[in-house]
Amino acid sequence: MKLIIINGPNLNLLGKREPETYGHRSFDEYFSELQFKFRNVELSYYQSNIEGELIDKLHESIGEFDGIILNAAAYTHTSVGLGDAVKAINVPVVEVHISNTFSREDFRHKSYISPGAKGVIIGFGLQSYDIAIQSFLDKP
Ligand code: DQA
Repeated sequence: MKLIIINGPNLNLLGKREPETYGHRSFDEYFSELQFKFRNVELSYYQSNIEGELIDKLHESIGEFDGIILNAAAYTHTSVGLGDAVKAINVPVVEVHISNTFSREDFRHKSYISPGAKGVIIGFGLQSYDIAIQSFLDKP
C-alpha cells in the first residue's frame, strides 16, 4: 500500500512551535519512527506552507497513492480550494489534527476538508497519524 502524509502551513516547525499544544518532537524524527513501525507501507511525506502547492500535491496523488493523510493545518479552517481538491480527486483522504481543534477557538471548529474526507482523526497528538495509517490498513 502506498500512502502519503501531506502537512500544511507551520507544521514544518513541529517540536519548536507552541510545544504545549503540538509537543516537542519534530515531524522528521517522528516520520522515521512511522516508517519503521509501518514497514509494510510505502510511506511518503510532503509539507508546504503554500495553499496552491498543497492543492497541486493532492492532484498529483491521483494514480500515485492509495490514500492520503492530510493535516491542512490552518488552511483546514479557511480553504475552499483545498476542500474542493479533496472532493475532486478519487484518492481517499483521511483528515488528521494533532490537537483537539474542538477544545480550542471557535474558528478551529469549522473544517473545509471534512465534507470530502473518508474520515477524521483529531486530538491524539502525533498518534493521530498512526491511527490514520492503521485505518487504511484495516479498511483500504
Ligand atoms: C492543526 C490544528 C489547526 O487549527 C492549526 O491551525 C494547525 C495544526 C493540528 O494538527 O492540531 O496548524 O491542524
